[in-house]
Amino acid sequence: MTADRVRIYEVGPRDGLQNEARPIPLATKLRYLELLADAGLREIEATSFVAPSAIPQLADADQLMAALPRRAGIRYPVLVPNMRGMARAEAAAADAIAVFTAASDAFTTRNIRMTISESLDSFAPVLARAGELGWWRRGYVSTAFGCPYSGAVEPAAAVAAALRLLELGVDEVCFGDTIGVGVPPQVRELTARAVGAGIAESQIAYHFHDTRGTALANVAAALSAGIRTFDASTGGTGGCPYAPGAAGNLATEDLVYLLDAIEIEHGVALDGVLVAARFIAESLGKPLASKVGQAGGWDRATGAATGRG
Ligand code: COA
Ligand code: ZN
Repeated sequence: MTADRVRIYEVGPRDGLQNEARPIPLATKLRYLELLADAGLREIEATSFVAPSAIPQLADADQLMAALPRRAGIRYPVLVPNMRGMARAEAAAADAIAVFTAASDAFTTRNIRMTISESLDSFAPVLARAGELGWWRRGYVSTAFGCPYSGAVEPAAAVAAALRLLELGVDEVCFGDTIGVGVPPQVRELTARAVGAGIAESQIAYHFHDTRGTALANVAAALSAGIRTFDASTGGTGGCPYAPGAAGNLATEDLVYLLDAIEIEHGVALDGVLVAARFIAESLGKPLASKVGQAGGWDRATGAATGRG
């Protein structure tokens, strides 16, 4: 990876859809996944092997992975909270997983009914098994900038959880601003502390929610701090049912527009993302709320908006 190449890790099919109340047909999810791949996205978090009662919208994870045509060069990670989920992921021929803890016990207790420490105990055999199988492994640290149940979060708590995940074998840790409260100085501080604790920049990803309009400012801060992996959700959908008010992930189209304009390579085509964004918004019966979704891209040569369909 050159210094100026960014990895865009698409979370729309998982984070984007998990909080939708209305059932989404399997065929719609598969088409969304296909359009995301067509747009050039190479890491697409596909679904979750969690308790169906916890996330009913993704209860079709087994069928989805069975029906998903794998494309060469595309990684489709799935969320796995425990060995039960790992068995399902194996049966579904997954080859990449994400486990998820947080920087606050108040959040993990509601989201996965475990303390941070208990969650790490639950992930240990999952990550060990995935390691035996040679799977790619990511660990999320949610609520890294603030918790909907306990308020401010110390960066040291996020770094401590990240270090434990790395000890358990994850390839990458992803700090999540689950409720979209973080601001650039926090991003700089968390990055500096993580790097100071021995975590390489290349092992750190950020997952911003644009709930309060700070996501792209946070991306810019992280880029300046040497981070090159960012999560985003095409169409800007998303939120966690256990994080009240956690609207909207950073929209992939907003991230792609910024990276294109500052000439950082990423391999994703804005027009393709906009096609997928309109598809999912229409399927969900919602207006496409992202900034670039509404305005389109911009052709420097003519001044015209692009990709508005
Ligand atoms: N896949 C399918 N079913 C599962 C499962 C899995 N990975 N893990 C547990 N279950 C089932 C159990 O079999 C049990 O079913 P039953 O009631 O029919 O017997 C039920 O779910 C409860 O299982 P239990 O082990 O007692 O778990 P819990 O109630 O303590 O919940 C989690 C723990 C982690 C399984 C659950 O909270 C969860 O899946 N959370 C995910 C939340 C999430 O995805 N949030 C968004 C991402 S940030
Ligand atoms: Zn999220």
